[in-house]
Amino acid sequence: MDKVSFSLEGQVALVTGASRGIGHDLVLALAAAGAHVVAAARHPQDVADLLAQVAAGGGSASAVALDVTDQASIDAAVAAVEAEHGRIDVLVNNAGLGFNHDALEVTEADWDQIMDVNLKGLFFVTQAVARGMVARGYGRVVHMGSQAGLVGIREHAVYSASKGGVDLLTKVLALEWAPHGVTVNTVAPTYAYTPGTAERLDDPAVAADVLARIPAGRFATTADIAAAVIYLASPSAGMVTGTVLPVDGGWTAQ
Ligand SMILES: NC(=O)c1ccc[n+]([C@@H]2O[C@H](COP(=O)([O-])OP(=O)(O)OC[C@H]3O[C@@H](n4cnc5c(N)ncnc54)[C@H](OP(=O)(O)O)[C@@H]3O)[C@@H](O)[C@H]2O)c1
Repeated sequence: MDKVSFSLEGQVALVTGASRGIGHDLVLALAAAGAHVVAAARHPQDVADLLAQVAAGGGSASAVALDVTDQASIDAAVAAVEAEHGRIDVLVNNAGLGFNHDALEVTEADWDQIMDVNLKGLFFVTQAVARGMVARGYGRVVHMGSQAGLVGIREHAVYSASKGGVDLLTKVLALEWAPHGVTVNTVAPTYAYTPGTAERLDDPAVAADVLARIPAGRFATTADIAAAVIYLASPSAGMVTGTVLPVDGGWTAQ
């Protein structure tokens, strides 16, 4: 039997949206799994403490400037990482944003802001990184989706559309790149407490409503999410591609 390995020893991983929240903790987790992690952030100074934390834990990480809505920034970031490290083995498309609004109140600016980061930015970062992966015959792409891409959630029209788009993009890219050793999968979490969700979850009524809809009875943790990402990023997940893995405590099983 082939060796089963979830180790990322010797691999280069790029994580977008690393400045805070889930992305921040994914950098820690991927470094602990053995990867050299490039923490991509719009403002690299925002990850200085994170890099120090990785180093203090015996891991390896560096920073790169990346705004996923800016093609020149994408091209420069990918070129810089490939020049410094030779390749990118693992891409985690974590950068994303969302806010609640009644569908009748959504403006074109709201639509563009969310879509530009969550769907368009994710696609063009993936395209830029996958060129090298396909050429080298190996790669693991993991998108940060959401349970909101799988089921309807009130006041999430634009966010859900963006994450549903990510889910279908996952399948198309998986089909195109499977023959080249590149897998593409999505992790779809339920609510996790992060700077992006704190304002909503700090409202006791909102928190109670959300918890009532999670059969496991708790929010996801960044460790729950990191475990799924590491699995899909690992050498042993080579036959898993085009999937959406909910990390939702059963929300979408209902
Ligand atoms: N937390 C949850 O409950 C939850 C549940 C399901 C899915 N998700 C998904 O998980 C991901 C992370 O969520 P989070 O809760 O950790 O969010 P967060 O705390 O709001 O952090 C969002 C991250 O995305 C980055 N970002 C935003 N716009 C960007 C851009 N144009 N270019 C590059 N980076 C950009 C932010 O960087 P700056 O610091 O530069 O703004 C920040 O690092 C998102 O894709 C989100 O949709 C979250």
